[in-house]
Amino acid sequence: MAYFSWSEDLRVGNSFIDSDHQKLIKLVAQLHEAMAEGHGKDVLGKTLAELIRYTQEHFKREEDHMLRMRYPGYAAHKQEHDRLMREVLDLQTRFNAGNGMLSVQVSGFLRNWLVQHIMKSDMELASAIRNAA
Ligand SMILES: [Fe+2]
Repeated sequence: MAYFSWSEDLRVGNSFIDSDHQKLIKLVAQLHEAMAEGHGKDVLGKTLAELIRYTQEHFKREEDHMLRMRYPGYAAHKQEHDRLMREVLDLQTRFNAGNGMLSVQVSGFLRNWLVQHIMKSDMELASAIRNAA
């Protein structure tokens, strides 16, 4: 059983959000595996950068959608995105400055954060999208 994989209870019921989340979960799992396999700074750094790049892309997609539909929860939702992005960029800065080690706490933090965000904020967003349709 993979450390972190997609499961049906994470489905929010919106196709672009769900497929973005599937990819994000794959990237977090990849980062975890790269750490567990003891890969060096090079591989870990690239995996982390790819995860950050895709997260930014995904957040932007959700935020654009919220703005287009004049979603009342936009500000709070964006605040959560911004907070996660700050935390992850901070983590990357420390990683780049350090010895190339990432602790298992990192992928644990990412997994928990992602699951909590999906189960609450993204579920609410998807249901608002459905109601607006
Ligand atoms: Fe979100």
